[in-house]
Amino acid sequence: MPDIDRVSSQPRSASHKRPKIYADLKLKMKSLCPLILALSAAAEYSGTVLYQSPTNLWLENIAARANSHLLITSAESPTLYTVDPRAQSVTLHEVFTFPNATALMGITEYKPDVFAVVVSNLTLGPPREALGTVVIWSVAFDAKTGAVSASPAVSVPLLPNSNTAAPQNAICINGISPLSSTVILGAESVSGAIYAFDMASGSVTSVASSPQWIATTNASAPVQLGINGLKYHDGYAYWSAGVEELFGRVRVSLAHHDTIEAGVVEVLTPIDNPYAVAGQSADDLAFDRAGNAWMAVHPSEIVLFERAANGSWVQHTAAGDASGTDLTTFNGPSAVAFGRGEGQEGILYVTTKTGQLIAVDTTGSTY
Ligand SMILES: *[C@@H]1O[C@H](CO)[C@@H](O)[C@H](O)[C@H]1NC(C)=O
Ligand SMILES: *[C@@H]1O[C@H](CO)[C@@H](O)[C@H](O)[C@H]1NC(C)=O
Ligand SMILES: *[C@@H]1O[C@H](CO)[C@@H](O)[C@H](O)[C@H]1NC(C)=O
Ligand SMILES: *[C@@H]1O[C@H](CO)[C@@H](O)[C@H](O)[C@H]1NC(C)=O
Repeated sequence: MPDIDRVSSQPRSASHKRPKIYADLKLKMKSLCPLILALSAAAEYSGTVLYQSPTNLWLENIAARANSHLLITSAESPTLYTVDPRAQSVTLHEVFTFPNATALMGITEYKPDVFAVVVSNLTLGPPREALGTVVIWSVAFDAKTGAVSASPAVSVPLLPNSNTAAPQNAICINGISPLSSTVILGAESVSGAIYAFDMASGSVTSVASSPQWIATTNASAPVQLGINGLKYHDGYAYWSAGVEELFGRVRVSLAHHDTIEAGVVEVLTPIDNPYAVAGQSADDLAFDRAGNAWMAVHPSEIVLFERAANGSWVQHTAAGDASGTDLTTFNGPSAVAFGRGEGQEGILYVTTKTGQLIAVDTTGSTY
């Protein structure tokens, strides 16, 4: 009753009423906002599929070029591809096909527009690179003409495998990241180690190893590979590891005479698996400008590790479906990379092992 009284005492003119209703609505929206945010906390960003391979080609890794184009590798093809993610119709174009190989794994820029690419004969399930076929190539784009030149830089031998619990006589060089403009760090997912590859001299050096990085010897286990993603950032090699599902880091630096020094292997946090998804597996990771880490996690999730002021890493499901049931947009995320160039820095590009290239606009991020 009092409400009705108040309404009837209002000016009858519609032009006066409307702003009042609008103001009420705005107030209600404001108080509803925290609820809406809480409800959508399961996935904070949505993804747009820019490209879907008609053959579900396994896309494996991404490197963003200064000109905003993305270089993309495939675990099922020896061809390096490029895409312009801003194009009206996004499609893969061939850059270079490596001889004597079946697959490409990690790719990283180590000098301006010069990229290291892991090339090998790879068999999948469980992923293994045939010994004697693993070569890290250098792919350079000419600044004036854009012409591509490629040359083998490091031939990777059978690596010393001190982890006797790991499958022997097998390797899988996976994620790579530059320590300097000459030296690339690479995660070896079978023996569980990080190696340094000198792109100038061709030398291979062991940097660090951990029992938490070893592949399983159980061929029917849902997750096969150990250490997988690797990103050198702020003096640390940040890593993800399958089997044990961990996010961690190890301090690595170049000392005098280019000697490589490594600290202790630190586990920062286990990767949450609230739905107990059997095939959950940590893959590639990327850092945003604020120093937060974004990680591709199989079967269908992008996890954000927010760097809190107290030094801990707070985990969010940034995109996708943590329960692993909705595979429409993120079907096997294999790599993540932030775009480069105007308007691209806040866009997280994601590839999947089912041939998707997805854009996630993180510019509304409050982290
Ligand atoms: C291909 O590999 C074989 C055996 O490892 C080698 O003899 C041959 O030179 C290689 N060819 C090229 C084009 O690299
Ligand atoms: C690697 O794969 C290439 C291309 O299929 C093939 O020609 C070559 O014989 C393979 N090399 C080995 C050592 O398996
Ligand atoms: C191997 O993995 C399968 C699937 O997870 C599991 O059922 C089996 O017990 C494992 N075997 C061993 C020896 O751990
Ligand atoms: C650190 O900060 C985060 C975010 O505020 C919080 O969730 C966490 O409990 C804190 N950890 C410690 C050890 O204080």
